[in-house]
Amino acid sequence: MASSDPRFAVKGASPAQHQAIETLVSQFLLTDERLAVIIKEFRRRMEEGLAADGKVLKMIPSYVTQRPRGDETGSYFALDLGGTNLRVLKVTLDGHGGIKTEHQKFALTEEAKSRTLFDFIAQCVENFLDDRNLRPTGQQPPINIGFTFSYPVQQTSINSGTLVQWTKGLNVPGCVGRDVVRLLQDALLRLGLRVKVAALVNDTVGTLLSAAYKDPSSQMGIIFGTGTNAAYYENVNNLIKWKGPNPSSGEMVLNIEWGAFDSDDFGFLPFTPHDIKLDRKSLNPRKQAYEKMISGMYLGEIARNILLWLADQRLFLDGRSSEILNAMWSIDTSYLSSAAVDDSSELIEVQQIIEKTLNVPNSSLVDRQVFKVVSTLVGERSARLSAVGVVATLLKRAELLDNPINVGIDGSMFEHYPGFESIMAETVSHFLTPEQFKNINFSLAKDGSGVGAAIIAMLVSENQ
Ligand code: GLC
Repeated sequence: MASSDPRFAVKGASPAQHQAIETLVSQFLLTDERLAVIIKEFRRRMEEGLAADGKVLKMIPSYVTQRPRGDETGSYFALDLGGTNLRVLKVTLDGHGGIKTEHQKFALTEEAKSRTLFDFIAQCVENFLDDRNLRPTGQQPPINIGFTFSYPVQQTSINSGTLVQWTKGLNVPGCVGRDVVRLLQDALLRLGLRVKVAALVNDTVGTLLSAAYKDPSSQMGIIFGTGTNAAYYENVNNLIKWKGPNPSSGEMVLNIEWGAFDSDDFGFLPFTPHDIKLDRKSLNPRKQAYEKMISGMYLGEIARNILLWLADQRLFLDGRSSEILNAMWSIDTSYLSSAAVDDSSELIEVQQIIEKTLNVPNSSLVDRQVFKVVSTLVGERSARLSAVGVVATLLKRAELLDNPINVGIDGSMFEHYPGFESIMAETVSHFLTPEQFKNINFSLAKDGSGVGAAIIAMLVSENQ
């Protein structure tokens, strides 16, 4: 297979190197037949999660039951907590689908990441409001704020929910099992800030709502970034586990938490020894199996495991390594994207990465080709597997594909990884009819997670 696909041909490689590349190609290139089996299982897991709590796909009710009309106006606030940064935003809606944002980014300090997260967040809100003279006085009503929290939370209302587990490298003790809104609200109170957390929002739900403000046909919001996950509008009749009142709209946004797919039995995803090694050494072993094959946080590390496996057989860099290459996480996923698009005859970009960034001198052209092939394989598998969740979710509401729909997507993999979007979309097309596929518009919902939280805070306050 490798020899017939020019992308995986390594000129000048030894028979043993060819053989190793063949092995990798057979592990990482997934046929449509293989994907079809995974899609079927994904659908089954979705149904299971709609019927009961505690399943692999959590299908979490977001309590968001409305759609923005697009003609709303006014300014609203939001907080967006990612794995490395916190953004505080003021979002102004112009009433014609247009959005203006003013925002400030704060890097999470090591102390915040390990201990004082919620006090740190409250402090950032205070700075943002004070810098702009927006802090409400005792006579003014409190500011309603939407809180985007990009971790799995079992929501108990629009503004309460308990943290199920940390993902993506954050690991602040004392938070799992507690209501994250309470934790934040208490920290805001300690600073005497008149700010009310009006909505707790997963980033995928925020992404969907921001897309829906601009385009009412939006049905699904996806993140392909540091982590991966999606949210979509589901008919409440299908949400068998739902015990609350039926919303008048008849629908609710669900947070799938799809990163967890296949984490219970590792039975369907194409695990290689390189994935298993990553999983074992990760902060959350046996969790987020799907996310670990797709998202930006992990792809560099999978590639590093492969390269060391090759080096240990003297098939890469003649068995040499460096302190940097030996260290976990030393290959950033962005190096893979640079390598995958390096078309220079000497693979200059790849040479820089191996020799300067990873500090292993004297790479041969064969080594550089091997690095590029590994990058391409890991990236392509990610994009092909991404299509699994997209297809399963779209087919879950296949009736909607009779009309044009928009899918809002954000995240570094989608925005920056070369070829990711086209491979994902092409793969999706193999599992739908041409008519269905023509109706889907994949659009970038840049920074939609924060904007969407502000929109949800607005919808909540309109209803009060
Ligand atoms: C992780 C989180 C999830 C989030 C996703 C994208 O999978 O568990 O809540 O939506 O990352 O940021």
